[in-house]
Amino acid sequence: MSDLILVTGGAGTLGRSVAPVLLEAGYAVRLLDIRAIEDAPMGAETLIGDVREPADVRSAMAGVTGVIHAAAWHGIHLGDHARDEFWDLNVRGTYHVFEAAAAAGVRAVVLSSTMGVYGDSRRPADGGPAQWIGEDLPRRPSEIYGVSKVISEELSQAYARMAGIAGAALRYGMFVPEPFHHAGIRFLYGGVDERDVARANLVVLQRLLRDGGHLGAFNVLSELPFKADDGLALRQDPLAVVGRYWPDAPRLLEAAGAKPWGPIDEVYEIGRAEAILGFRPKWGFEQYVEALRSGRDRLV
Ligand SMILES: NC(=O)c1ccc[n+]([C@@H]2O[C@H](COP(=O)([O-])OP(=O)(O)OC[C@H]3O[C@@H](n4cnc5c(N)ncnc54)[C@H](O)[C@@H]3O)[C@@H](O)[C@H]2O)c1
Repeated sequence: MSDLILVTGGAGTLGRSVAPVLLEAGYAVRLLDIRAIEDAPMGAETLIGDVREPADVRSAMAGVTGVIHAAAWHGIHLGDHARDEFWDLNVRGTYHVFEAAAAAGVRAVVLSSTMGVYGDSRRPADGGPAQWIGEDLPRRPSEIYGVSKVISEELSQAYARMAGIAGAALRYGMFVPEPFHHAGIRFLYGGVDERDVARANLVVLQRLLRDGGHLGAFNVLSELPFKADDGLALRQDPLAVVGRYWPDAPRLLEAAGAKPWGPIDEVYEIGRAEAILGFRPKWGFEQYVEALRSGRDRLV
């Protein structure tokens, strides 16, 4: 019988992207969400439930081998959700997930985290170069969302020690659905394609189920070629730096009515995922420029 994987927040962007990827890899899939899950892929089990309710989480966990925990309020909800709500869903909900996972003998939990955990650490010095952001940079969240994910990361580490639940935290860039050109420019500012997010979840889950243990945190963002030498220019004249690596990009962007949004202050290092998991994102600014060259309005 196939291992059963529970995806919390199964009706969301990540849940909808990861479900078919898990099914294709041979897992049985159970999607849990507080709202009805429309268009669930064939073969996935769906369940309506609230991760803030321990009983809902316990019953969802029956027979489960691994969990992809994605249910959360996130960056786009900061403006219209109170800190209490972030605490209830992101902190208390995550605690319930780990408690129920421990009680059910679940072997691995993949935690959805965020680049927001870096908070103040990711801001460059005044007048200085862009900040390079690796997983070792201290986590100094400056809003409740980042705080909630730092606590969730600590829960992930703690339940590996206390209950032997294998774990990892995936710190994603932004993958909220956006219009094509916006998403393309987003790749310069900490974006990631949802298909890469889904694949990262699969790769880390497979590794955890195979080897156990805790793998720490991984930045999961699209790839950019920028080097330390570009640091100042990224902030002062990002289009010029883009033109160094993609000479036709300034012309293509202008023709498309797109342009960088302003200084590029942050560059995310993604090498740890490649070194440890063999995971490298497939989609990013390179593929966006390629789409512009070919007159397409989607990435392939
Ligand atoms: N989307 C991004 O840009 C982004 C960036 C970084 C990190 N993340 C993280 O990735 C994860 C998934 O993000 P997403 O974009 O798929 O989010 P999403 O908002 O699209 O989906 C979240 C899902 O959780 C469900 N949910 C809300 N409250 C719930 C509850 N009480 N019980 C059960 N389900 C509940 C929602 O109905 C929704 O379907 C989140 O943990 C988020 O913090 C997302």
